Amino acid sequence: MLIKLNNISVEYGKGNTQIMALNNFSLEVEQGTFLSIIGKSGSGKSTLLNVLGGIRKPDYGEYIYQDQLVNKMNDGEAAKFRNKNIGFVVQHFALIQEKTVYDNIALPLIYQKIKKNEINKRIDYILDKLSISEKKYAYPSQLSGGQCQRVAIARALVTKPTLILADEPTGALDEENGKKIIRLLKQINEQGTTVIMVTHDLELAKQGTKIIKMRDGKLE
Ligand SMILES: Nc1ncnc2c1ncn2[C@@H]1O[C@H](COP(=O)(O)OP(=O)(O)OP(=O)(O)O)[C@@H](O)[C@H]1O
Ligand SMILES: [Mg+2]
Repeated sequence: MLIKLNNISVEYGKGNTQIMALNNFSLEVEQGTFLSIIGKSGSGKSTLLNVLGGIRKPDYGEYIYQDQLVNKMNDGEAAKFRNKNIGFVVQHFALIQEKTVYDNIALPLIYQKIKKNEINKRIDYILDKLSISEKKYAYPSQLSGGQCQRVAIARALVTKPTLILADEPTGALDEENGKKIIRLLKQINEQGTTVIMVTHDLELAKQGTKIIKMRDGKLE
């Protein structure tokens, strides 16, 4: 099993205003799965991805990735774990405004000490796949929302991660570009990469190999 979540809880706030974003949540994900997560706004989908990405430590429960106990990692270890294993497409794309598209995408590869030639090759490939090659040297402020989203996706995929976490990866895209992203994720999944995707669109969710629905921090 690639991922095991055992009785995970995540709480926000205190007392009367406390929210259980995840409530005694358990899940197993096998390597090679394309898991779609649906559920209404506030049901805990992004919180779940943050736990899986090692960004939010659960307040209770256990998160095991392969043989590593992620919930016991300190911040430095969690960041290393993330860089090594995970490509994260966040809901609000978080591009660095002062850097070009090329430099934004190159960043995780530079952390991994990948050679310049290889970086160039991979970036050209992924920009072409996402139809944004002509924006290679543009800055995020010069891009549309959908183009920013594709750059964020490129940045997540370019490291060839074992696990891709994608939070509404098609949220800012028109239908044609949305389909392109799903096709690319499917293709990467067929090569063995595990994909976990949050989406509001049931039709897109059906493209996965498995669908789960969340409600109030639990599986419905
Ligand atoms: N940093 C935070 N502080 C306080 N409450 C939070 C925080 N992040 C999330 N929550 C609350 O936790 C619950 C789950 O939020 P989460 O973002 O996981 O929902 P979601 O399913 O991703 O929703 P959406 O579809 O709108 O993105 C919500 O009630 C939300 O208000
Ligand atoms: Mg969300």
